[in-house]
Amino acid sequence: MMKRLVLLAAALVCAAEEPGAILAPPTLSAHAGAGTVRFIGRGTGALKMDGKPVETVSPHAGVQAAELKPASEGAHTLEFEGQTLRFFTGANPDGEFKAFRAHPPSNQCETCHAVRNGRWRFQRVSLASVCSQCHSKETFQAKHTHEMPVLTDCQLCHNPHGSTTAVPAHLKLAREAACKQCHALQ
Ligand code: HEC
Ligand code: HEC
Ligand code: HEC
Ligand code: HEC
Repeated sequence: MMKRLVLLAAALVCAAEEPGAILAPPTLSAHAGAGTVRFIGRGTGALKMDGKPVETVSPHAGVQAAELKPASEGAHTLEFEGQTLRFFTGANPDGEFKAFRAHPPSNQCETCHAVRNGRWRFQRVSLASVCSQCHSKETFQAKHTHEMPVLTDCQLCHNPHGSTTAVPAHLKLAREAACKQCHALQ
C-alpha cells in the first residue's frame, strides 16, 4: 500500500543552481553510421573530446551544444564540467557500449525549449503540453498509472535528449524507483 506521498517541487526543473552536466550523448552509447553525435551540456565550462577542446554553440547562458565529429572510429572520451564519459562511433562496438536511440525532436531545441524570464525553460507552461504536441493522451493513458497532469514532469522518468537501447521508452530509471520519487512504498 502507498502510505506517504511526497510532493515534488516542480521547481526542480531547470533550477539555476543545478551543477554542470553532460545531458547528451548518454554514457557508453554507441553511434553507428556517418552522422554526427549531438552533445548537450548544462554549464559554462569548456568541452573536451579525446583531450582536445571542442567548440560549442550556446543558445542561452549556461546551455551548450555541439555536433561531435570524431576524426576516427572507436571509443571516445568527453570531458565537461568535471564529468567524464565515453561513447563509441562506427561499427562493431564492444559489449560495454549500447546502441544510441535518438529521441527524434531532440536536435531542434526550440521544439521543447524557450527562454522565459531570462531562463532556459520550456515552450509552454507545462511540460506535458510540450510533449503532447506529438504524444497522444490515449497512448499516455495506456502506459501510465496516472493522468497526465500528475506526471507532468516527464523528465522524472524519461530522458528527452535520447537514451540507449539498454532501456525501454527512454527511461532514466526502473519502474519501481520511478514510483518512489513520489510514493514511499511500504
Ligand atoms: C523533446 C523535448 C526536448 C528537446 C527537443 C530538447 N530538450 Fe533539453 N530538456 C528537455 C527536458 C524535458 C529537460 C528537463 C530536464 C531533465 O532532463 O532533467 C531538458 C533539460 C535541458 C537542459 C538542462 C536545463 C537545466 O537548467 O537543468 C539543457 C541545458 C537542455 N535541456 C538543453 C537542450 C538543448 C541545447 C537542446 C537542443 C540541442 C535540447 N535541450 C532539446 C526537453 C528537451
Ligand atoms: C513515474 C515515471 C513516469 C513519468 C513521470 C512519465 N512516464 Fe512515460 N513511461 C513511464 C514508463 C515506466 C513507461 C514504459 C511503459 C511500458 O512500456 O511498460 C513509459 C512510457 C512512455 C511512452 C511510450 C509509450 C509507448 O507507446 O510505448 C511515452 C510516449 C511516454 N511514456 C511519454 C510520457 C510523457 C509525455 C510524460 C509526461 C507528461 C511521461 N511519459 C511521464 C514512466 C513515466
Ligand atoms: C516534435 C514531436 C515530439 C515531441 C514534442 C516529443 N516527442 Fe517523444 N517522440 C517523438 C517521436 C517521433 C518518437 C519516436 C517514436 C518511435 O521511436 O517510434 C518519440 C518517442 C518517444 C518515446 C519513446 C516511445 C517508445 O516507443 O519507446 C518517449 C518515452 C517519448 N518520446 C517521450 C517524450 C517526452 C517526455 C516528451 C516531452 C519532453 C516528448 N517525447 C516530446 C516525437 C516527439
Ligand atoms: C509525480 C509524482 C508521482 C509519481 C512519480 C507516481 N505517483 Fe502515484 N500518485 C501521485 C499522486 C499525486 C496521487 C494522488 C492523486 C491521484 O490518485 O492521481 C497518486 C496516487 C497513486 C495511487 C492511488 C493510491 C493512493 O495512495 O492514493 C496509486 C496506486 C499510485 N499512485 C501508484 C503509482 C505507481 C505504481 C507509480 C509508478 C509507476 C506512481 N504512482 C508514480 C503521484 C505520483
